[in-house]
Amino acid sequence: MTTTPTPDFIGRTPVHMAEMTVPPSAAYLVDLPDLTAETLAVDPLPRAFTIPASWYTDPGYHEADQHVIFAQTWQYVGHMDQFKQPGDAVYTHVAGNPILVIYDPEAGQVIRAFYNVCLHRAGPLTVRGDKRKVIQCGYHGWTYFLNGMLRGVPDWDRVELFNKEDYSLRPVNVSVWQGLIFVNLSPNPTPIETVFAGIEKRIAPMRLDTKRFYRRDEYELACNWKVYMDNYLEGYHIPIVHPDLNRILDYRQYVTETAPHYSLQTSPFQDGDNVYSSLGGDGSGAFYYTVFPNFMLNIVPGRLQTNIVVPLAADRCQVIFDYFYDEHVLANEDAILEEIRYSDMVQQEDVEICEQVQRGLKSRVYDQGRFSVKREAGVYHFQNLLKQCYRAELVEDGTALTEDQGRKTNVESISVAADD
Ligand code: FES
Ligand SMILES: [Fe+2]
Repeated sequence: MTTTPTPDFIGRTPVHMAEMTVPPSAAYLVDLPDLTAETLAVDPLPRAFTIPASWYTDPGYHEADQHVIFAQTWQYVGHMDQFKQPGDAVYTHVAGNPILVIYDPEAGQVIRAFYNVCLHRAGPLTVRGDKRKVIQCGYHGWTYFLNGMLRGVPDWDRVELFNKEDYSLRPVNVSVWQGLIFVNLSPNPTPIETVFAGIEKRIAPMRLDTKRFYRRDEYELACNWKVYMDNYLEGYHIPIVHPDLNRILDYRQYVTETAPHYSLQTSPFQDGDNVYSSLGGDGSGAFYYTVFPNFMLNIVPGRLQTNIVVPLAADRCQVIFDYFYDEHVLANEDAILEEIRYSDMVQQEDVEICEQVQRGLKSRVYDQGRFSVKREAGVYHFQNLLKQCYRAELVEDGTALTEDQGRKTNVESISVAADD
């Protein structure tokens, strides 16, 4: 029996072909507690308050952050050293979306990224095959070429009004900076070179693209992602929380600098050998970069450690550490394992304090605090960038705020040395 499609059906545009309609992000900010012109204002550091406790505890902010922050910024997925063969892939999530990143050197575009969502009925995709790699859905077996074009559709012979071309995987923007790979779900992302401007020159002659991947460690924390970021962004807690680290860093010379999209904490080491000098570097000091919103580069000679902070719920986040070393350091495995053990010890101290802070933020007595001008410029800078993101959405939406409702300082020009 043959059926004639109704005129209605012929005229219908498949949902995925229609202009992708993402609800305006500002919609997620409406009705959130404590989101006012007052709390969004950017005051000078000596007079500024920290962001309200509800921004760390309310589930509405977790949802809003996914759309307003994480779906609009570059998110780290890995390093070029992790890709060797065509079809090598990384499976990850960005702002709650499953993402597939593929190495495809034969087709010109070396790294490709797609939403890891099959166009049939939203199944999960995996790269398969020995010689000729294909992307295959793990639900009903549709296959796609590495460039995302639909390749094979089993048992499809009586389907009407179906164009294979309309069912290519949805691509995601991908960029590589110094060998590090990032994806961005925004259709119009800020160029990655703009975000990282100045870092390459500052860390020279060290380079990050020649580093070799060693291993990944993951931690799950009972705190909001912003609690972890705040904590990372200041050395103020080092003497109390990390007594051991305090003995090797020269805390008096700890300096925080800021740039439009990131901040940098630097500290020379105390004289003498330490866990880092045994990696073969000159032991001269450390660069701690925080790239907004959730990515860190911890650089000492011979070694790179990246951190990414992934929000899981209002009161839960995952922190992923990737360890990279210079080729010549890899031979010294004892030094590497000792350095990782040391890093894990410092991380456990941070986990404990962050989880306690989350409980403090949820208590009935705490709302907003203040900043040390000398020691907490990095936290202030991060919180101002966060406010900027919220404000930009609301201003664009035009309903809640106007640009001049918040007092503003130039958040790009903060630079505080600890000895000022
Ligand atoms: S959902 Fe992918 S083949 Fe059915
Ligand atoms: Fe710490």
